[in-house]
Amino acid sequence: MNLSNAKNPPLCRLPEVVIQGSGIYLPSKVLTNHDLEKMVNTTDEWITERTGIKERRIAGEKETPSEMGAMAAMMALQNAGLTAEDLDMIIVATTTPDTIFPSTACYIQHKIGARTIPSFDIQAACSGFIYGFILASHFIACRSARHILLIGAEKLSAIVDWEDRSTCVLFGDGAGAFIISLGENSPDQLSFDIGADGSQWQILYIPAGGSKLPLTAQNINHKLHFLHMVGKKVFRLAIDSMEQSLTRCIEKAGISAEHIACIIPHQANLRIIEALSERLGIPGEKFFVNVEKYGNTSSACIPIAFHEAVASQRIKEGDIVLFVSFGAGITWGSVLFRYKAKA
Ligand code: UT7
Repeated sequence: MNLSNAKNPPLCRLPEVVIQGSGIYLPSKVLTNHDLEKMVNTTDEWITERTGIKERRIAGEKETPSEMGAMAAMMALQNAGLTAEDLDMIIVATTTPDTIFPSTACYIQHKIGARTIPSFDIQAACSGFIYGFILASHFIACRSARHILLIGAEKLSAIVDWEDRSTCVLFGDGAGAFIISLGENSPDQLSFDIGADGSQWQILYIPAGGSKLPLTAQNINHKLHFLHMVGKKVFRLAIDSMEQSLTRCIEKAGISAEHIACIIPHQANLRIIEALSERLGIPGEKFFVNVEKYGNTSSACIPIAFHEAVASQRIKEGDIVLFVSFGAGITWGSVLFRYKAKA
């Protein structure tokens, strides 16, 4: 399917934006495939072969997205050499907010002791962090903010049906945070591409719990408050949308794929990442993968993977890095930048 999002795409370049620090939080409780064998009719072999996932983290009662997000934020601030008082804005990407309102960002502002700065959530499902990255970069590029805290925080264990083997094995909980800052004449963000195709909303959604179908005992009995997914269709569109978005992003930057040192794809399924690598003719070693440890943590996948890639020296100063994601909506996005440790 052709998923082009603009007839004449604008030159998408935000040159003075840097990731000043990153942080992550992962719940300590590990749920392995063998644990799942005792819960639903599945096997470690099936999950490993069909998804690449071996285990995932499950949040405890007090580990809400705001709590996990605040922990990741504190680590990111420390790594950036900043305090919460230095922040000018908080943006949280989440599909599993603590409450419908107020926003998870407002809870986090209070928890980390930030000033009364603008704080809000955005919703683009698994592409949320990339949408947030691009949004934050625009505020920075317009000089409307100097330091923005961007968080992807998810508690997917709260919205999956633990009796449905086709979905419950795929997801996990966690949070990742970036401090996005104004750099100095640094050509760091090379290009980006985002888009959505709302005609595909029905392949991945939660029917009840919003104002269209409020939570009632009957809706809960029918399991309408859980995530519903047409797995095979999502699988195909995931590959199509990421392939096309990544290609557009590279074209806009005027570089070739060989210049990219590391690609951080959405961590939903190893087979999706392998198919993407094959279709694009980009060697598998260029893709950073940690899906075996955490499963799909939706908007938290990219910041968690980036943080681990930097910590393990898989990404080094000066490397060209590409983020690419897709999610419910459907949505997609990619961003290409040169990694620089500090502004
Ligand atoms: O962020 C976006 C979130 N979602 C995704 O990225 C999901 C994208 N889709 C996928 O990753 C894959 O479609 C799945 C992993 C969900 C499923 O893999 P598949 O290769 O598409 O399997 P399938 O749905 O065609 O199912 C094949 C068989 C079925 O049995 P029958 O009908 O052939 O007898 C399923 O009932 O596998 C069965 N099955 C399982 N068996 C053991 C489905 N889930 C399981 C399971 N354990 N957990």
